[in-house]
Amino acid sequence: MNDIDEVRNSLESKSLKVCVVGIGRIGLPTALSFAKAGLQTIGVDINEKLVNSINLGNFPLKDEPGYEEIFNKVKKDGNFSATTNINEAISKSDLILLSLPTPMDKKNIPNYSALETVCKQLTDILQPNSLIVVESTIEPSFLENNLISILEGTDKLHVGKNFTIGVCPENANPGEILHDFTNLPRLVGGIDEQTTKIITMIYDFVFSVELILMPDCKTANAVKLTTNVFRDVNIAFVNELSLMFEKLGIDTLKVLDAAKRKYNFQIHYPGAGVGGPCLPINSYQLLNTAVRTDSKLSIIKQSREINEKMPDHVVNLTLDALKKCNKTIKDSSILILGISYKPDVKDIQLSPAEIIINKLNALGATIKIYDPYYKGSQIFGISVEKNMEDVLPEVDASIIITAHKEFREVNPKIFTKMKTSILIDSRGIIDTSSAKVAGLVFRGLGRGI
Ligand SMILES: NC(=O)c1ccc[n+]([C@@H]2O[C@H](COP(=O)([O-])OP(=O)(O)OC[C@H]3O[C@@H](n4cnc5c(N)ncnc54)[C@H](O)[C@@H]3O)[C@@H](O)[C@H]2O)c1
Repeated sequence: MNDIDEVRNSLESKSLKVCVVGIGRIGLPTALSFAKAGLQTIGVDINEKLVNSINLGNFPLKDEPGYEEIFNKVKKDGNFSATTNINEAISKSDLILLSLPTPMDKKNIPNYSALETVCKQLTDILQPNSLIVVESTIEPSFLENNLISILEGTDKLHVGKNFTIGVCPENANPGEILHDFTNLPRLVGGIDEQTTKIITMIYDFVFSVELILMPDCKTANAVKLTTNVFRDVNIAFVNELSLMFEKLGIDTLKVLDAAKRKYNFQIHYPGAGVGGPCLPINSYQLLNTAVRTDSKLSIIKQSREINEKMPDHVVNLTLDALKKCNKTIKDSSILILGISYKPDVKDIQLSPAEIIINKLNALGATIKIYDPYYKGSQIFGISVEKNMEDVLPEVDASIIITAHKEFREVNPKIFTKMKTSILIDSRGIIDTSSAKVAGLVFRGLGRGI
């Protein structure tokens, strides 16, 4: 995989064999895209249940429009299968994509153990002249300082000699992966210029999107983190402003709506907190890099603190509304509307909903949950209701935590079915005048008291 003509030929003849290690939210659609381009693709995962289910023909990502059809087609064409056997898969592959999780631990320290484990495994099984592309989000220099040392550790592999490596950090949004894979520009960085060109050729063949060639891997990873941390910091900015605007009786949404009309203002919205597998972790990844390089990233640190305090504010809004209705939290039953970390996806990783539920529980409230993506499941130790309207008469208050479509379209009138008509909107989706007309005791995050 270091001769550009050979790679071109292997793409044109569709003889390039691909292995994607980690077939979760990002890795599975990636593998399916390679298979759809006509390349024999195998997905590897340690999750046996997932692998078996995929091989039985069940597509797991029901909230990813467009991919179920692709899944069915490439399975039918025999271009895609899954396995837990990494040895066998790697021994048949020329191109290895790593789409492994990069979470953080309870102390917010990034955890790269999945990538490290797989790279250790590769030292024994990688085919000569293979190309490894790391799609996972990693800190700048982590590939150069850590992953390459692991791969070269047993002295069988030598980068640039019998294997090569690069990055193509994934930047798709859950729920919109097909759209993003076929529209968003991708960053490419290689361990040398030739590798960057080869990765670019392969990704151009599969995705046909703009490819941004970076001078090296660490710069590509720096761009990926910069774009996401930019959002985390800007959300913190509007969150902090919204707390002040609330006290001034100013509706933050009206401010943002007008501000965005200026050409250089980029809109971000306040809310109950920033969750998911990307933004909070990416900020902590850069903070980890700052520690490593004896640098200061105080704005990111403060932004994290602000965003992590937002669940407290949601609880305070709830307590305030209950007080207005002469209710104590201990005597109250509260319905949480939405537990996903973002609208219209089934994903609760680092969701602020969990923090808010724990805080309300600790204060003695009875908690009920409704989320269209988790109907009937047991989440955070609570059974998720099957129907929102049926449970309203049993609760005193509802808190909108995720702006799922179903909640964005709701008529605020239905909340008058509650025992006490308290509605807390932490996502700015309820029109304040409609809430007033309906006679609700309404608290909107950042909307003025
Ligand atoms: N989900 C997103 O929104 C998103 C967006 C852009 C980038 N990313 C990045 O992409 C990477 C993957 O994220 P994801 O959301 O797809 O994660 P995920 O948890 O959905 O999928 C990861 C998969 O890897 C598997 N796995 C874990 N350890 C393994 C091992 N040792 N061998 C084989 N398989 C193993 C898991 O079982 C899982 O199926 C992360 O670095 C993440 O930061 C995620």
